[in-house]
Amino acid sequence: MLTTIIYRSHICKDISLHSLKDMVAAANLKNDHADVTGILLFNGTHFFQLLEGPEESVLSIYHHICQDKRHYNVVELLYDYAPARRFGKTGMELFDLREHDREEVLQTVLDKGTSKYQLIYNDRALQFFRTFVEATEKENYFEIPPAESWDFIPDDNARSTTAVVVDNAADCSFAFQPMIDPFAQKIISVEALLRTPCGNSPAAYFEGLTGKARYQADLDSKKIAFAMASALKLGEFSFSVNLLPMTLVMIPDAVNFLLREIQINGLVPEQITVEFTESEVISRIDDFTSSIRQLKAAGFSVAIDHFGAGFAGLSLLTQFQPDRIKINRELIKDVHKSGPRQAIIQAVIKCCASLEIAVSAVGVEKPEEWMWLESAGISQFQGHLFAIPCLSGISAVAWPEKKADL
Ligand SMILES: Cc1cc2nc3c(=O)[nH]c(=O)nc-3n(C[C@H](O)[C@H](O)[C@H](O)COP(=O)(O)O)c2cc1C
Repeated sequence: MLTTIIYRSHICKDISLHSLKDMVAAANLKNDHADVTGILLFNGTHFFQLLEGPEESVLSIYHHICQDKRHYNVVELLYDYAPARRFGKTGMELFDLREHDREEVLQTVLDKGTSKYQLIYNDRALQFFRTFVEATEKENYFEIPPAESWDFIPDDNARSTTAVVVDNAADCSFAFQPMIDPFAQKIISVEALLRTPCGNSPAAYFEGLTGKARYQADLDSKKIAFAMASALKLGEFSFSVNLLPMTLVMIPDAVNFLLREIQINGLVPEQITVEFTESEVISRIDDFTSSIRQLKAAGFSVAIDHFGAGFAGLSLLTQFQPDRIKINRELIKDVHKSGPRQAIIQAVIKCCASLEIAVSAVGVEKPEEWMWLESAGISQFQGHLFAIPCLSGISAVAWPEKKADL
């Protein structure tokens, strides 16, 4: 199927225009062979390229382009299918926007197109063109340094409850994972993640439990979470636990149970955030919002976890506003390379700023993901890049430090 990929990228410092002309000559031959056409724009700093042709060939060439050391921060803007080529008559031409009058440049580029498409401005691909030529999106180009410019240095603050027997008879345990502000070198809060005593997932803990028994088990597990938090001396931190939204609905005295256990362990509700998963919240939103009022009235904060993984998205925020949302790994993954993910995360950040909702990113694994998110305005992160969840303890946090020579 005729496939179009559009990307933009940043030229590397030491690359001359002359060497680019040679590269384009070689690219032309290769594209010709693979039946790939398109156009390459250059504005002195950024490339913008449209590639079109059979899907496999376009993907293979794009894969090579992404590995090319002559440019960096390659961000895919469009991946789409079309009935006909837009630049079918041009092999691969390098079009230097600086050599043309700004007023006429768009028309000049479009004149290179397959005639049918020359003046169809509502085509998404051509809209991307127009935006690049007119440089109206530039404030959203976050130029992040290479991953190798950072060291991640573990601190020596790991702690565990192994010396402290919390409850031998407990049928669950918890892994703890910090949420950090890497630049402030500060732990913002610690999340208690439900596990079986030998460290298996929450699904294993809930296996075989149905109906009310499932919600009771969910609530009961928080007794262990608070006891372990106390044994870990987490009293100085904010601390979060996860609840199934229906636990609050199905167990009428749930909030009082939480308050009692918190008090027994020397904690206060104001330091505790209760996290709910987006997809679970939306299925029983009316019951859920009334339960949330009880939690808020008791002093707890509320967060929506896995934001962006479910089907509610931003419209969930019309129903109720949590204190924090945690953007899910599905949106975070390779955000530095994906135009659509970048656009969605920027919309989430803007929306949450208007509503004074704190935003954090979870599941951060790559330095580039973290750097892009920092550039976009997020400062609080959870993920394997900084600290893995640790059963019955907290692992050392790997704090980023910029390498001196880069
Ligand atoms: C901005 C830019 C655009 C490029 N466009 C193409 C292209 O359209 N077709 C192509 O074959 N190579 C293109 N290349 C070069 C590829 O990255 C790669 O060097 C080339 O495909 C040869 O790869 P190979 O030596 O592994 O076969 C481009 C490189 C850059 C930096």
